[in-house]
Amino acid sequence: MADHSMDTFQFVVVGGGIAGVTCVEQLSSDFPSARVALITAASHIKAVTNFKQVFQTLEKFDVEERPSSALQEKFPNVTVIQSAVGGLCADTHTLQTEDGRSVGYDKLCICSGARPKLLTQNQPYVLGVRDTDSVQELQKRLSSAKRIVVVGNGGIALELVFEVGGCEVVWVVKDKAIGNTFFDAGAAHFLIPSLEAQRPARDAVCKRARYTTEEAPDGDLHTFTASGSLRRQGSGPTDTGSALGPDWHEGFLLRGAEQTSQGVRVEYECGVKEIFTSSDHLRPPPESDYGSWPVYVQLTNGKTVGCDFIVSATGVVPNTDAFLPGNDFALAVDGGLRVDEHMMTSEPDVYAAGDVCTAGWEPSPLWQQMRLWTQARQMGWYAGRCMAACVLTQPIELDFCFELFSHITKFFNYKVVILGKFNAQGLGADHELLVRCTKGHEYVKVVLREGKMVGAVLIGETDLEETFENLILNQMDLTPYKDELLNPNIDIEDYFD
Ligand SMILES: *[C@@H]1O[C@H](CO)[C@@H](O)[C@H](O)[C@H]1NC(C)=O
Repeated sequence: MADHSMDTFQFVVVGGGIAGVTCVEQLSSDFPSARVALITAASHIKAVTNFKQVFQTLEKFDVEERPSSALQEKFPNVTVIQSAVGGLCADTHTLQTEDGRSVGYDKLCICSGARPKLLTQNQPYVLGVRDTDSVQELQKRLSSAKRIVVVGNGGIALELVFEVGGCEVVWVVKDKAIGNTFFDAGAAHFLIPSLEAQRPARDAVCKRARYTTEEAPDGDLHTFTASGSLRRQGSGPTDTGSALGPDWHEGFLLRGAEQTSQGVRVEYECGVKEIFTSSDHLRPPPESDYGSWPVYVQLTNGKTVGCDFIVSATGVVPNTDAFLPGNDFALAVDGGLRVDEHMMTSEPDVYAAGDVCTAGWEPSPLWQQMRLWTQARQMGWYAGRCMAACVLTQPIELDFCFELFSHITKFFNYKVVILGKFNAQGLGADHELLVRCTKGHEYVKVVLREGKMVGAVLIGETDLEETFENLILNQMDLTPYKDELLNPNIDIEDYFD
């Protein structure tokens, strides 16, 4: 018999990823005696640890996967309900879980994340990298693979092509340059040699999954310091797995069947037209190096590539499905739940944060939403504060962290800091670029508008992030300093002190 009684909480948060857990922690700190529920399909939650405010807006943190009981130990008044969400009735302030419970709320925050946009559904040769389980699946399949095709040009594709060894990688990108989400062609050009360099073979022992970032005992070259790095997909009410941590590949040995690194071949400005297997009758006429492969990818540039399997890393879709039927949510064009400057959706008492939502407020000229770990944490935290402020009928202003877009990460073993309108987004022709590049060492790009710095890309140990963050925030007129700004012989920090 189903239990028809309803449990009601003051605050209910859906989603055990960074946004949801941060929101629960914020609410529980503000209201230690309030009943707070976290509804999550997975048995583990994601927790932010070692949070560090680097400068005014730049922040770093690690992400750890923990059993949900750890959250209840820290906050005894938090109830974790392990189930997917089946539906929401915003009118009656009630959620249904898939395992048949009704959960009432005064205020709800939806942090259900996003899932990977897959090339095709139910194609056994197409793998979406989404969570710990899918990385393990990737690892297993790589061990006997000689060639894989990676489709996508976002962060996960960038990290993947660099991390995979012992296997030929054909990388299909829709843009003119790699890493288009984060870089321009110049930065991509700077990074390309890293792809071609012989990468060190790593020991063949499979490590356990871990999400912390302590040094590997063997001095593994691929220890990444986490930094609220790239978002990975899919912490959702309908998924069992939560989004991958910043170091999603760390601790997983991504090695193919070959002993040596086989290199990466990039196919630019194209996409996948068709995927077919050797048993399909519709296969196009074989080319000279067609070979015999389990699966073939026909690209929009006319080439056909045979491979062992395809990794689909082509972006994410907000996990809204469970919440939409019967309700009247305003959605953004990208499918996210539209939220205002208080992280409120269009339904009363329903907030949203992280990958599932789309910022619907008039953004600062120096900020844009990107579905990254950094922003999931910021939004979850800010949503918690907004919910608290609403209960206490206190005013609250949009947090300073939404003033300037800033992100620290690591690509191809280089430290990468991106600030503001780093790709001159939305500026049209109304901007000027200053670039300094030392091959194999650093790449620095500054975006100026009317003499003021509005964005920057810093690759390598440039030591410029603090100064540049200041210069962007204070919008100082840099016209008199333009020629000196990137002069490597001038200590820019002293210059503006
Ligand atoms: C939990 O809530 C009760 C009352 O709702 C309160 O008395 C208690 O102090 C709370 N526990 C903690 C650890 O804050």
